[in-house]
Amino acid sequence: MNLNLVYIKDKLYTKCKDGLKWYGEQVIKQDNYYLREWSPFSSKISAAIKKGFVLPDLQNKEILYLGASTGTTVSHLSDLQAKAIIGVDISSFTMLPFLELSQKRDNIFPLLFDAGHLEDCLLLHTVKFDFVFQDIAQKNMVETFIDNIKLFAKPGIHAIALKTNSIDTTKTPKQVLDLSLRKLQDAKIKVDKIIDLNPFEKNHYFIVVRI
Ligand SMILES: C[S@@+](CC[C@H](N)C(=O)[O-])C[C@H]1O[C@@H](n2cnc3c(N)ncnc32)[C@H](O)[C@@H]1O
Repeated sequence: MNLNLVYIKDKLYTKCKDGLKWYGEQVIKQDNYYLREWSPFSSKISAAIKKGFVLPDLQNKEILYLGASTGTTVSHLSDLQAKAIIGVDISSFTMLPFLELSQKRDNIFPLLFDAGHLEDCLLLHTVKFDFVFQDIAQKNMVETFIDNIKLFAKPGIHAIALKTNSIDTTKTPKQVLDLSLRKLQDAKIKVDKIIDLNPFEKNHYFIVVRI
């Protein structure tokens, strides 16, 4: 159970002490803490939670987040008191604001790197993570996820946001999903749950795997 994950009516919030406002989200002050709205329209993990994903307890856990961008979702995982979140992104443009975020939180570590070649990152050699999450819009995203799961995932739950349009626009989202599931099956990665992120994200599936 994530103690800092709070539902009020049908809205999801993460609790924090510092009142961080990072990307225009609503922040509500309580007595001695703040609630930051975690909108399903801004974050695929939030959208998945809204549609039934049970986020593992991340307190004191180590997370590998592939496709961190400017840190929208990472900022909420940071609120959940993860021990360390390594946020990987290939873009130096998004890395600049993400670096700024990391200076505000001592559990966020930015890494400017290609998620498709993390085996070349000496920093990560021999490290395994409690939760690996990938959200990169690349044609080979499933292959990249499989490689990273094999290299870096501890036994447990991990997830990928599958953007079907980025893989093949000539096939329907369902056909791309089926092909992706076959690749995971061939790699002997067990699929735990498949969530269609509609209406929060079109042509996106959230695939939860268990290793
Ligand atoms: C949809 S955005 C991620 C949004 C973020 N997950 C969030 O919820 O705040 C996709 C990000 O993936 C990054 N990306 C794309 N290809 C990548 C790669 N090969 N390695 C690392 N990052 C990549 C892009 O630069 C972009 O910032």
